[in-house]
Amino acid sequence: MSEKKSLQDAYAIKTPEDSINLYRDWASSYDSDFAKQNDYRSPLEIANYFDKYSNNEDTPILDVGAGTGLIGEYLKLSSREIDAIDISPEMLNIARLKNCYAKIIEADLTKRLLIKDNHYGAIVSAGTFTHGHVGPDAFDELLRVTRAGGLFVLTIHYKLYKIAGFDKKLLEIKKSITKPNFHEVDAYGNNPDKDHGSDKVIITVFRKK
Ligand SMILES: C[S@@+](CC[C@H](N)C(=O)[O-])C[C@H]1O[C@@H](n2cnc3c(N)ncnc32)[C@H](O)[C@@H]1O
Repeated sequence: MSEKKSLQDAYAIKTPEDSINLYRDWASSYDSDFAKQNDYRSPLEIANYFDKYSNNEDTPILDVGAGTGLIGEYLKLSSREIDAIDISPEMLNIARLKNCYAKIIEADLTKRLLIKDNHYGAIVSAGTFTHGHVGPDAFDELLRVTRAGGLFVLTIHYKLYKIAGFDKKLLEIKKSITKPNFHEVDAYGNNPDKDHGSDKVIITVFRKK
């Protein structure tokens, strides 16, 4: 039996292999031990901002680093097609049980994806562009698999926006996207964690041109 996982463990990872190992052990307790106990709000915020910015043509949707499918649960009512992509088969197994995803894709977002060009009408993501997880270069592949006009609504951890080069990446791709809108929100609600309880994420919203 592995010991209880925490935000400190999540923020300590450095490679895709670290992600596979961490989330293999965390998957079965992630929703209860992590999301519920920490009042983790990012997936709900993404669903709310998706509702705010999207139109009926923003489909199908790809949930990037979908994990156990928390965004899918919140978006389920919109009755649009949502696919889940993640590197962790164990996290995806939990997502599958929730019956909100049309397709479950196990893949490493730091590599080329086996998805055809211009397929998706929207990209959503919570908690994936964060410490040691997935960096800004993944935007290139996400743009490739999204059709012109497709909507992006994703969280970037506020401490990494500059340090990890998300600001530079958005400038690099600026000819391919509309001017991004940013909303800084709390990642957690009622969370007493002294190190991370007040962490914020930057909800970043743009469309592919
Ligand atoms: C903090 S969890 C977020 C899960 C879900 N989006 C949520 O908000 O609850 C981060 C997710 O990113 C996935 N991940 C990390 N590195 C990845 C990579 N290189 N490719 C694909 N998924 C990755 C992990 O497996 C994990 O499910």
